[in-house]
Amino acid sequence: GTYTNIKVEKVGEKKNVTLIQLNRPKALNALCDGLIKDLNHALDEAEADSTIGAVVLTGSERAFAAGADIKEMQAMENFSAVYNSDFSLSWNRITNCKKPVLAAVNGFALGGGCELAMMCDIIYAGEKAQFGQPEITLGTIPGAGGTQRLTHAIGKSKAMEMILTGNRMSAQEAEKAGLVSKVFPPDQLVSEAVKTAEKMASFSKTIVTICKECVNASYNMTLTEGLHLEKRFFHATFSTHDRQEGMTAFVEKRAPDFKDC
Ligand code: HXC
Repeated sequence: GTYTNIKVEKVGEKKNVTLIQLNRPKALNALCDGLIKDLNHALDEAEADSTIGAVVLTGSERAFAAGADIKEMQAMENFSAVYNSDFSLSWNRITNCKKPVLAAVNGFALGGGCELAMMCDIIYAGEKAQFGQPEITLGTIPGAGGTQRLTHAIGKSKAMEMILTGNRMSAQEAEKAGLVSKVFPPDQLVSEAVKTAEKMASFSKTIVTICKECVNASYNMTLTEGLHLEKRFFHATFSTHDRQEGMTAFVEKRAPDFKDC
């Protein structure tokens, strides 16, 4: 499709990665309603496209996203207006995407921008990236998962400090704290993210999705329940073509030919 607030392109040597670039440069990619609708639609398309194996989500060098659109929120007058519109509920699309989504964060990832990055499966950062939850400075709280996902990612003390002060965290600190898995020079960030996405896209899509489901389950389950789920999925992989092909290819010393089934 064609979009107003994002740019979408198929990239990688085999064109098997969808690159989504948030594109409201004048507003530092503030996440207005139209942008979220565009993003959700692009994710629907990537998920439905059998040639696509992974998604990279990025912004500009200056900003991944500076948060929910404050000019839009300013007009929301009271509890019932926001409650009845279920504001921010539709932001969840990334979390149930069956294909891996890698965030490539240059510049500001603030408020809803930081929360959007944390909905992704992996975060790569450019050296000048800055993460923050400044909602407290606006008289509100992180409303798209920040109080939960940031705490899971970096622990209570660091999360409390960020959420209660609005202070930002650098890319280097974010890597040390485990929020970000790797840091790159800004101009190499997207190509490095695409390389990793291509690698994930080279494997069986069915098995990739199962891996995602099991890792995500660790957030919602006890260890006993999570281990049980993992064991059953492990057993289930034995009935797939791709498990048989993967192990046969190893024994025959050749590359596997996965069929996503
Ligand atoms: C709407 C925004 C915006 C935002 C920036 N802009 N952030 N517009 N919503 N979140 C606009 C500015 O109004 C300005 O446009 C233009 O982008 C450039 O911003 P400047 O402030 O002039 O740039 P700079 O001085 O470099 O400062 C950059 C900044 C600052 C530090 C990122 O813009 C900033 O503090 N932004 C707000 C960050 C924030 O509080 N985010 C949390 C939002 S609440 P004009 O046309 O006015 O010049 C949130 C809740 C999520 O995210 C809850 C879940 C739904």
